[in-house]
Amino acid sequence: MPNKTKVIAFANNKGGSGKTTAAANVGYSLSLKGKKVLLVDADMQMNLTLSFFDEEKVMEFASGSCNIYRAVTDRLPFEDCIVKTAYKGLDIIPSSTLMSSMEFKLFKEKEREFCLAKGLAPVIESERYDYILIDSPPTLGCLVLNILTASDYVIMPVEASPWGLFGVANMFEFLESAKEFNDSLSLLGILITKVNTRKNYYKQTLENLKATPGVRVFDTVIRIDSEVEWAQDNSMPVAAYKKSARSGAEYMELSKEVMRLCR
Ligand SMILES: Nc1ncnc2c1ncn2[C@@H]1O[C@H](COP(=O)(O)OP(=O)(O)O)[C@@H](O)[C@H]1O
Ligand SMILES: [Mg+2]
Repeated sequence: MPNKTKVIAFANNKGGSGKTTAAANVGYSLSLKGKKVLLVDADMQMNLTLSFFDEEKVMEFASGSCNIYRAVTDRLPFEDCIVKTAYKGLDIIPSSTLMSSMEFKLFKEKEREFCLAKGLAPVIESERYDYILIDSPPTLGCLVLNILTASDYVIMPVEASPWGLFGVANMFEFLESAKEFNDSLSLLGILITKVNTRKNYYKQTLENLKATPGVRVFDTVIRIDSEVEWAQDNSMPVAAYKKSARSGAEYMELSKEVMRLCR
């Protein structure tokens, strides 16, 4: 029997591709659909945590014991590190700036590829959540390997820019290596983000990706929308910040695709 809880990693080694924005807004959209969602912020930049809390609160998480760094390195029960957001059905395990030393910490661990998976296992077994969404740093090291080992699916955001595809081959190769540790891992799809419909980069990026064998590209694309940054500046998901925001509707469409595909 597959687990009730689906674990989805948002990963791409290219920074600025829209991983964190997608994790926050897909999480929020799924919660609006009545799903129970846990976000896990695994990036030392703490941007996913900042998407829901102000800087003062985020720094409190960073230096306290309620974060993913403490959970993994002190082997705390992950359940104890879960924090409620302002939104019903949407919880988060915050990150910490200490995640900058996570690669080194993991290096010394036994079965170092599975530290995150082991910590998340009781949360998955409790069936408390429908979805666990993990936001990744823009790297391809042991931490991201841990994230992929703990996940059922990967969503890979790719920016529709001339350089958006640079490094995609490395990411594909890394996914294949991760499958050696987790044979149930699959690429749910590539998400084209930050599309400027007046430029053709978008079409070029999309065509190049669609030509890649075995790769699904989500039907929904996320266009550039200045409301995204306003919402982030206010530590809110975009649809909560402004109901009529175009990108909010796009993330909702994407979430419906995700619900259909994760079976
Ligand atoms: N649809 C969008 N429209 C406008 N800006 C966006 C959009 N999506 C993301 N951004 C901005 O692009 C930057 C990178 O996005 P982010 O989600 O942080 O990427 P990553 O997590 O991959 O580094 C952020 O400043 C964010 O505000
Ligand atoms: Mg990010």
